Amino acid sequence: MPQSVLFICLGNICRSPLAEAALREECKLQSVSMVVDSAGTSDWHAGQAPDERAQAVATKNGLDIGHLRGRMVSANDFRDFDHIIALDAQNLKDLENIQPVDGTAQLSMLTDYIHGRKGEDIADPYYGKENGFDVTWAEVTEAARSIVKVLK
Ligand code: 4NP
Repeated sequence: MPQSVLFICLGNICRSPLAEAALREECKLQSVSMVVDSAGTSDWHAGQAPDERAQAVATKNGLDIGHLRGRMVSANDFRDFDHIIALDAQNLKDLENIQPVDGTAQLSMLTDYIHGRKGEDIADPYYGKENGFDVTWAEVTEAARSIVKVLK
């Protein structure tokens, strides 16, 4: 059975769709089979395509994420996925609070997979400067390489 990974941020339109795209791409490059998805702790952007700035940084790096749609994390996700990876500490706290008792997914933070950054947040680029999305992309691609190495 391939490992399954769900990335979680707040809105599911900036950070977690980029993490999803980066891990899918790394799996493709390494010929590794994994189930990869993303969701938000909120339903604020459910049904919406990723933020245009997130789409732009993906396009700049050769990937199309325009087909992705936001969704809120559900109780079933804790039973369906092997790994649920939070993009920041608040996301992790929110996940811990809604985790069902029979949830089997292992919870972690994305920066646990980036050398020297364990426990740190992936900064939310939503309200920030344009280059924030380039920073996010660099972080999620570094983490994706490490996730493939660790989980494959
Ligand atoms: P994300 O970014 O959690 O990385 O998708 C955000 C997207 C939307 C909002 C906040 C963060 N918002 O406040 O609507």
